[in-house]
Amino acid sequence: MDKRSNIANKLIYPFWADSIRLYENGISIFEDIDKVCKFGFGHPKGPFQMMDEIGLDTVYQGLRSFFDDTGDKRFKVPEVLRKMVEEGILGEKTGKGFYNHIQQSPGRLKIDALHQEIPAIKVERVGVIGFGTMGRGIVQVVAEHGFEVIVKEVRQDLIEKGMNFIEKILERSVEKGKITAKGKNDIIGKIRGTTNSEGLKESDIVIEAAFEKMDLKKEIFAEIDMIVKPECILATNTSCLSVSEMATVTKSPERFCGLHFFNPVPLMKLVEVIRAIQTSEEVFKKAFNFGIILGKEPVQCKDSPGFIANRLLCPYLFHAIGEYGKGLATKKDIDNSVKLETGFPMGPLELTDLIGLDVCLDISEAMFKKTSDRNLDPPFLLKEMVRKGYLGKKSGKGFYDYSPI
Ligand code: CAA
Repeated sequence: MDKRSNIANKLIYPFWADSIRLYENGISIFEDIDKVCKFGFGHPKGPFQMMDEIGLDTVYQGLRSFFDDTGDKRFKVPEVLRKMVEEGILGEKTGKGFYNHIQQSPGRLKIDALHQEIPAIKVERVGVIGFGTMGRGIVQVVAEHGFEVIVKEVRQDLIEKGMNFIEKILERSVEKGKITAKGKNDIIGKIRGTTNSEGLKESDIVIEAAFEKMDLKKEIFAEIDMIVKPECILATNTSCLSVSEMATVTKSPERFCGLHFFNPVPLMKLVEVIRAIQTSEEVFKKAFNFGIILGKEPVQCKDSPGFIANRLLCPYLFHAIGEYGKGLATKKDIDNSVKLETGFPMGPLELTDLIGLDVCLDISEAMFKKTSDRNLDPPFLLKEMVRKGYLGKKSGKGFYDYSPI
């Protein structure tokens, strides 16, 4: 194996093994895990599609060989994979792997069925809480789809900062001829800012995108619950916290759910729709439908720590950061190896910079608390970088240097 393949395989094989474990543990069906990777992370194919293509016996042998060399549990062969290989189910070459390569898989049909029975959602006004990286993206997408948006922040200067950001992004689209100047003004005209929660009272759906702190989110929802109309859907954009726990602070928790978007929101098609224990069927389906109306690819998720995407992504990013810290290769070699070998649009270190090192740390700490999964324990290097203010693209410096946006 050449150096480039070795670096990429060392990071990708455990990512695949983790995908199988999510499926094995009933966190999600494998078709949805594939969808998450394609639409949330821009991968050309999902992990199950890739494994079927490469051959499950090859994946099995790759994991065995890394495990024998390192003893690292990340490379342990998942039970499901072992059984499939023993039974001669090897992927495309045998006509059957995770997918049936002769007939259409039943999982896909199930998703289509859900699309058909969705009740209509009547939305005119959308409330967004928080105008940081995710809030801005959500506000932009919602306004681009013709809805009035009211965004709440704690200070006026934060509203202005968010508006300037969206204006700059839209201005670039005008310069490139993607939209007209009038189109840009129409989108901007749909967005209003407020520092007062009362401003959200006419919303048909409120999406909260504040910091990943449970206490803060509970405080926000306890207040909003008293202000908005009884039929207004309450959704959190949390990437890892318990949606069911958040719902407990509201008087009607059945109208509560999770709508988790991906960064950069205008470009990534995935939205994870999370069903809390209390979420009513109708609200879940309406929220799912709202994702479709916004041009997204919704995936239904159970309310488990990190849902599907972050449960899969964080161990992979941390493994790469840990290996970089131990001197496996230069940052460029790590990122380029993964991109060239897999077709992923970004390497793991670039991606950590895009998400924000502090965000990755917050997410992992919350997930680690709930699961005690050692692979979610953030690497020392990540903690050190956050402590020194290296937060990634948004702060101008992370693993790489950036000019301010
Ligand atoms: N809003 C609107 N448009 C934007 C934008 C934004 N924020 N950022 C960039 N664009 C535009 C650019 O201006 C550009 O326009 P043109 O095509 O007209 O030039 C276009 O979008 C593409 O931009 P790039 O040239 O930068 O695009 P790229 O081809 O390099 O792709 C990418 C960029 C889509 C981000 C791609 O690298 C990718 O898919 N990366 C993976 C990102 C990912 O994995 N995100 C998920 C992170 S996990 C998460 O978010 C969840 C969590 O809870 C942590």
